[in-house]
Amino acid sequence: MHSLDRFASDKLAHLEHASLRRVLADSVRDGLYVERGGRKLLSFSCNDYLNLSHHPAVKAAAMAAIELYGAGAGASRLVTGNHPLLTQLEEKLARLKGTDAACVFGSGYLANFGIIPALTGRDDLILIDRLSHACIHAGAQLSGAACLIFDHNDTSHAETLLKAHRSRYRHALLVTEGVFSMDGDRAPLMPLASLCQAFDCWFMIDDAHGLGVLGDGKGSAAETGCTANIPLQMGTLSKAAGSYGGYLCASKPVIDLIKTRARTFIYSTGLPPASAAAACAALDIIACDPSLTRLPLAKAQHFTKRLGLPLAQSPIVPLIIGAPEDALAASQFLSSEGFLVTAIRPPTVPAGTARLRIAFTAAHPDAGIERLALLLAAYLERQSPCLASS
Ligand SMILES: Cc1ncc(COP(=O)(O)O)c(C=O)c1O
Repeated sequence: MHSLDRFASDKLAHLEHASLRRVLADSVRDGLYVERGGRKLLSFSCNDYLNLSHHPAVKAAAMAAIELYGAGAGASRLVTGNHPLLTQLEEKLARLKGTDAACVFGSGYLANFGIIPALTGRDDLILIDRLSHACIHAGAQLSGAACLIFDHNDTSHAETLLKAHRSRYRHALLVTEGVFSMDGDRAPLMPLASLCQAFDCWFMIDDAHGLGVLGDGKGSAAETGCTANIPLQMGTLSKAAGSYGGYLCASKPVIDLIKTRARTFIYSTGLPPASAAAACAALDIIACDPSLTRLPLAKAQHFTKRLGLPLAQSPIVPLIIGAPEDALAASQFLSSEGFLVTAIRPPTVPAGTARLRIAFTAAHPDAGIERLALLLAAYLERQSPCLASS
């Protein structure tokens, strides 16, 4: 066997043994249900929090854009890929987020991978919440700046690190998530913003899971009333907006700099017209229907009350199981009962905290939520009476 294939096979066998190998399953979504292997499952594993990926107006906008502008952007935005829908999309984002300007990237991952190295370099310091998304850590590493990790949502720890290290660096950047993708909890934005102000540290939030579901759809900063204190608001259009693409909302000079320096913006093809048009239509719905944006959190909170869990702070509810094989077994049990709740395992989450990540959407039927709660309560009681009552 070729050494490359042997390397891959050995690595896969090791992952398989630890219940950490990931495999793809064909999934046909209709916005709420997912068809897999001929079975239709009620999905609690989609980030399409407002079910907008299948909204008639969103789909119609995407189809019309293809007719007008074609299927692909054809080049990077700085060459010929800057179709007018991208400018419209940036204007809508800036308006919704309350900033001067916005910049749209090919994805949220590309956004973080481009923004952070464009703003920081070798002489700078970056502080990151321990549970931040992989693309934040990746962007920080790429920048060449010194990276320090502060304990999850621990403003005092971040302060201790800034006190000890800030003076040795030219610029400092603190990055956290508005809503944590795998835990569903929210960052203490106000205290972190004050801390950043005190240490001349730039504050950036990744609000991938806040847009559309908090602050009447405007996101975590609006929910907390500190939009003006967060100069860098990054997010994605692939979750509540039901489309694809990433963005940064910030001041005009920052956005102008990003558009001329961020490598994932400059050296990557522009977002396809259909994705931009779909996102524009979705943002219009979000901006004018606050009652829709409140539903996912309301449903998540009903579920957590029903199960006696800490009150949900976002549409994401984690149920920590522990070992990866146990999380997989719980997911398989729910699948046999007609529910799709995927198991999240390391390295996406820390070792020993494999979990079910339950994501609520505006359209989830109350009866389905009730049945899921009953099944989970019974399952946890059977597996581990201590866990069920903790
Ligand atoms: C917190 C967070 N940031 C960034 C991303 C990446 O966004 P995208 O899927 O648009 O690449 C995700 C999605 O997985 C996320 O959860």
